[in-house]
Amino acid sequence: MGKIKRVVLASNNPGKLREISEMLVGLHLELLSQSEFKVPGIQETGATFVENAILKARNAARHTGLPAIGDDSGIEVDALNGEPGIYSSRYAGEGASDEANLIKLVEVVRQIPEDKRITRFICLMVYLRHPTDPSPIIAEGIWEGIAVTEPKGKNGFGYDPMFFVPGYNCTSAELPPEIKNQISHRAQALKKLIAQLNTAYTCAK
Ligand code: IMP
Repeated sequence: MGKIKRVVLASNNPGKLREISEMLVGLHLELLSQSEFKVPGIQETGATFVENAILKARNAARHTGLPAIGDDSGIEVDALNGEPGIYSSRYAGEGASDEANLIKLVEVVRQIPEDKRITRFICLMVYLRHPTDPSPIIAEGIWEGIAVTEPKGKNGFGYDPMFFVPGYNCTSAELPPEIKNQISHRAQALKKLIAQLNTAYTCAK
């Protein structure tokens, strides 16, 4: 049995830590929250999801001396040139609540013809071996759907009530969490990241 590798997750969200840790079972990685190390937050100044994910991971790696996983995600509406995109968490203004962001996007989507409401959730996940790692492992997850203007469902968070999932004929807020966690943008990105970690490293079994 090899040594367990400690990796820091560049997030303070306990839900994210739990979800990702569950998927890492078998990889001999121990995932630790950056909040355990009091890692200071950073400004998400990147112009893309991948830049922001790397900024977060680099910040966590620098402050902890550990390899780091960072992620960034959001929702894109085709007819809005990909907005809110990287601004998803602050669409209704800096510090806006999930509810305010949702209400704003519903109002904006109402102006778009019904057949032009193609939308997707995007998640970028990166793994940095150290803060100056020049070749991070990068994985992307994309979940296609349609924006609806009658939000429905109580599960999930953020824009889930307005994200209609055609294959399930309901919004992602109406999906049971165990289904969402298998098919979401985050799940897809994480599966790809894990496959690449498996290939790239001998995370000794
Ligand atoms: P972050 O990647 O945790 O910074 O999330 C960015 C923002 O994207 C969140 O605040 C939500 O507004 C939105 N978002 C990301 N993933 C989801 C999801 O699975 N459901 C609903 N909204 C999401």
